[in-house]
Amino acid sequence: PTANIGVVGLAVMGSNLARNLASREGNTVAVFNRSYEKTETLVTEHPEAGFVPASTYEEFAAALQKPRTAIIMVKAGGPTDAVIDELMRVFEPGDIIIDGGNSLFTDTIRREKAVREAGFNFVGMGVSGGEEGALLGPSLMPGGPDEAWVTLGPILRSIAAVAEGEPCVTHVGHDGAGHFVKMVHNGIEYADMQLIAEAYDLIRRGTGKTPAEIADVFAEWNRGELESYLIEITAEVLRQNDAATGRPLVDVIVDEAGAKGTGAWTVQTALDLGVPVSGIAEATFARSLSSHREQRDVSGALPGPSDDAFTVPDADAFIEQVRLALYASKIVAYSQGFDEIRAGAAQYGWTIDLGAISRIWRGGCIIRAQFLNRIADAYAAEPELPVLLSAPYFVEALGRAQAAWRDIVQIAAGAGIPAPAFSSSLAYYDGLRAERLPAALIQGQRDFFGAHTYRRTDKPGTFHTLWSGDRTEIEAEDTH
Ligand code: 6PG
Repeated sequence: PTANIGVVGLAVMGSNLARNLASREGNTVAVFNRSYEKTETLVTEHPEAGFVPASTYEEFAAALQKPRTAIIMVKAGGPTDAVIDELMRVFEPGDIIIDGGNSLFTDTIRREKAVREAGFNFVGMGVSGGEEGALLGPSLMPGGPDEAWVTLGPILRSIAAVAEGEPCVTHVGHDGAGHFVKMVHNGIEYADMQLIAEAYDLIRRGTGKTPAEIADVFAEWNRGELESYLIEITAEVLRQNDAATGRPLVDVIVDEAGAKGTGAWTVQTALDLGVPVSGIAEATFARSLSSHREQRDVSGALPGPSDDAFTVPDADAFIEQVRLALYASKIVAYSQGFDEIRAGAAQYGWTIDLGAISRIWRGGCIIRAQFLNRIADAYAAEPELPVLLSAPYFVEALGRAQAAWRDIVQIAAGAGIPAPAFSSSLAYYDGLRAERLPAALIQGQRDFFGAHTYRRTDKPGTFHTLWSGDRTEIEAEDTH
C-alpha cells in the first residue's frame, strides 16, 4: 500500500480536499467514488496530485497503509451511513473512518458508538470554508477519540488554513463534539449573513444609495473592526451587474433565501438545551419568511406607517449608526453561539476549549473575521467566562454602540423595515441587563392556572398561592 490517507466521495468538496491533501509534503492520497467516472476525471485532470485511484472498496482498502485513514465526503444522512458500512466491511480494527460532511451531531454520536463497538475509530469532522477552503485550507473541527487524533492531527494540521501562524484545527472533543461545533458555526453564519442583509436593506432604503455605492460602504467597513470574509464578499455581490439586463445582480436574484438545515439544527438544539440563541433563530426564521411566497403575496393588503417615504437626513451619520448596530448585534450572536457550545459540552460530556474554537475560526471558514481574535483574548483572560459579551472588550464595544443600536431599531420600526436580527439582539442585551424581569409575573400566572409554584426573593423554599381558595400562601413541592 502506498497511500497514507484516502478520500471517499469526489464531488467538489471531496475532490478539492483530496487535492489539498495531495499537495502537502508526505501525503499520498487514495481516491474512491461510487461511480468510477468521477475518479477517472479527477485523476486525469490532476496528474500532479499523484492520486491512487480505486474502483472498488477492496482496492481502496488495499491502497491504504495502516492504520487506514479515510475521509468520507458524501451527502449527510443515508449516503454517509452506507459508506461507513462499506468501509467497515473492508477495513480492519484500529483503522480510522472520518466523516467530513455536515452531519447532525446526534447521528455522529450514534455512528461513533456503532463503529467503535466494531473495533474501528470514528471521527465526525466539521469542515468549513466551502469549495475554495477545501482546496486551499479549510477550518477543521474534528471530534472522535484521542487515539485517532494521534494519526490524524499531523495530516489535518498540514491541510488546514493558517491564521496568525496557527493551523485552524483542534481536537474539539469526543464523538459528536466536532459536528456540534460546526453546527453552531453555521448558526452563527446565518446570523452574520442576516445582520449584513438588514444593514444593506436599511442603508439602501434610508439613503437611496445604489448597490454599487453600498458595496463601497462594505468595502470600507472591511477595513475596520467588522473585517471579515462575509463583509468582503457582500461588497463583491453588491458590485456585480447582471450581464443580461445591465441591472445590479442583487435586484435580479429572487428574494427567497434557501437553507440546507444546519441553522435550523442549531436552533432546535438550543431549544432542547434551553439556550437563548435568539439572533440565530431570527436569522433562520427570516429565511423561512422570505421563502413563503404564497404568504408574502398578501404584502399589498397590509397597512404600514403613514409616511412611507423614508429618507434619512444625514446619510453618512446613518451609515455609521448602522455599522455600530451591526457590530453590537454580531457580538450578541457570537455570545449566544458560544453559550450553546458551552451548554452542549455540559450536556454531552465534552471538554471543549472555547478559546481554541475561536482561534480555529479565524481562518478558512465562512465566519472568519478579525473579531475572533477578540473572542480568543476574552477566553484567554477568563476561560470560564459565563457570558461572552460580558468580557471587558465587548462591554466597551457595546457601550460605544448601544445608542446607535437603539436608534437604528427605532428607525427601522418607525419606517416599517424589518430588522429582526438587529431588534432581537437588542432585546436579548436588554434582557441580560435588566435587574428584574417580568418573568416573575409569568411565574405568578403559571402558579395561578397550574399550581406550578414559585420561589420567593426573601426566603428559600417553593410556594403556591391558593388562588381558587382563600389566596393564602402555602409551602409546596417544587414542580418547576
Ligand atoms: C461552510 C458552510 C457550509 C454550508 C453552506 C450552505 O462552513 O463552509 O457553512 O458548510 O453548507 O454555507 O448552508 P445553507 O445552505 O444552509 O445556507
